[in-house]
Amino acid sequence: MRTPNYPGADAHKWAAVDDYFSELLAPQDEALTNALSANAEAGMPSHDVSAVQGKFLALLVKLMGARHVLEIGTLGGYSTIWMARALKPEGRVTSIEIDPLRANVALENCRAAGCADKVDIRVGAASDVLPRLEGPFDLVFIDADKPNNPVYLEWALKLTRPGSVIVGDNVVRGGAVVDRRSTDPNVLGVRRFAEMLAADPRLDSTALQTVGEKGWDGFTVSFVKG
Ligand code: DHB
Ligand code: MG
Repeated sequence: MRTPNYPGADAHKWAAVDDYFSELLAPQDEALTNALSANAEAGMPSHDVSAVQGKFLALLVKLMGARHVLEIGTLGGYSTIWMARALKPEGRVTSIEIDPLRANVALENCRAAGCADKVDIRVGAASDVLPRLEGPFDLVFIDADKPNNPVYLEWALKLTRPGSVIVGDNVVRGGAVVDRRSTDPNVLGVRRFAEMLAADPRLDSTALQTVGEKGWDGFTVSFVKG
């Protein structure tokens, strides 16, 4: 079992259920499990999505027939591989990573997974890289430093079109999101993000809590109405 980011009393059960469903419905090939080992060896935090979450992202890509996916926060490319493999033949994931060492590991992981040709990793701070990107993207997955979520949402809106989808990871944070007195910059970032989702007339959004091998967390899904 991986070390959950936000453990709870039933963390072992949550992880066992993730194992059960991922073995049945989201089996990982060697490239995916090797990617997780490579990330751990490189000293990255185990913030990768779980297999069932990766499969969910892949299904979103398929349901939308997405061709242009933007990921903010590559880490070691685990979610990148799930999404890249689900793309239409000419599709591409553009993924932004601030740390060049992590970006290199991610690129190697994508090569080993046979999808490097579908992945464009841009190295730099997302706030520097985003202004240089050309949209529109069909799907944006926001999964980088949480204090900047509000900035990333503004860019996601600039870089999408009516009908696009924006997903924001890690918005529950073991329940910390409801602490209105929190001074944790991550909590402040996801709370402001959620308030922006609520207030923006261009967006139609929801938030789903998850338990699993990463503990208790959750994500938002937003439809861009235009
Ligand atoms: C954290 C960040 C992530 O992207 C994630 O998936 C899990 C946890 C974090 O900052 O704690
Ligand atoms: Mg995440």
